[in-house]
Amino acid sequence: MSQYVGILTAGGDSPGLNAAIRGVGKAALGAYGMQVIGFRDGFRGLVQDRTVRLSGGELSGILTLGGTILGTSRDKPHQMPVGSQTMDMTEVIVDTYNRHSLDALVCLGGGGTQKNAYHLHQHGLNVITLPKTIDNDVAMTDMTFGFDTALGIATEAIDRLHSTAHSHHRIIVVEIMGHNAGWLALGAGIAGGADVILLPEIDYDVEIVADAINRRRRRGSSFSIVAVSEGAFSTQDRKHLKKAKKKVKKAENEEDRERATVKLAGVELVLQDKTLALSRQLEQLTGLVSRVTILGHVQRGGTPSAADRLLATRLGTACAGLIHQGVFGVMVAAKGNDMQPVPLEEVVGKRKTVPLDHDWIKTARDIGVCLGDQ
Ligand code: F6P
Repeated sequence: MSQYVGILTAGGDSPGLNAAIRGVGKAALGAYGMQVIGFRDGFRGLVQDRTVRLSGGELSGILTLGGTILGTSRDKPHQMPVGSQTMDMTEVIVDTYNRHSLDALVCLGGGGTQKNAYHLHQHGLNVITLPKTIDNDVAMTDMTFGFDTALGIATEAIDRLHSTAHSHHRIIVVEIMGHNAGWLALGAGIAGGADVILLPEIDYDVEIVADAINRRRRRGSSFSIVAVSEGAFSTQDRKHLKKAKKKVKKAENEEDRERATVKLAGVELVLQDKTLALSRQLEQLTGLVSRVTILGHVQRGGTPSAADRLLATRLGTACAGLIHQGVFGVMVAAKGNDMQPVPLEEVVGKRKTVPLDHDWIKTARDIGVCLGDQ
């Protein structure tokens, strides 16, 4: 009797999602004789029972496509906006799963998706996940698909910014995605030859950054490229934010809490422009003209790289094999040369940030890149 498999993509999109859907689907249909349906727009599609047939033809011609043919959303099963309310839709999802007589649900996503999938697994669903995100910050896997493509895009952007920064004798501050982990900024910064790389893992001192730029200038290089992760903080900004958060936590009555919350929102609003503020500060401290380039969602769009297609396909086919064996409650992880199942409870609630003793950090320091701290 054939097994019935549902598949969805959740969280921010990422190059390689379609390659992964195709990998799971082709192996499920061809190698194991399963039946596959897709759910649209992440966990919301499960709630609303919006499906897409994935019976063969739909899986052709999608390997090189960016985005996800299924659509995605950041909805959480247990906290979903419904009309003007936020509701726990877990039971509705369980009903949909049972109505389709599913034997397995494949969830493709980043850290948040692993958590949501684990929640559904705890409610009895046979869940299995794949790790995707351009941030490469999912725990327990060597690599997530999407990262390699974004790395290429960010590196090419830095390459292009070099010639214009050089021609105008300017600083160019380039903001790279990664709220909590600096893999992308660090990787692209090294590969693109940035002079300064600022990461969420290492708080920076703007004076130290300016000193590095001034030293380059004295050596005859009157331009600099500063690659900054969107989650990087100066020591001062980090202190302000921490203080404002602490005040909300420690508020003794409703009035104090309200005041502290408004103050925190103000601090967070100002910090949304921290890359622009950094650029202005560097102008003041160096006397050089500085420009900002925010790469944003360009890093997530378009055709996946060969490495991402390969990784996503391998993860996808391994996933179909695990479903066939009846292995659930796991994320399929890339470990060395293998694709291995890792229990979801070992993945959720963790984030793979750049360890301070990581080889990429040492490499950057060894070639004289300033990381803002020394
Ligand atoms: O998690 C991937 C990511 O691209 C992060 O790098 C970025 O901080 C975030 O998503 C942006 O999310 P959104 O597309 O919802 O604005």
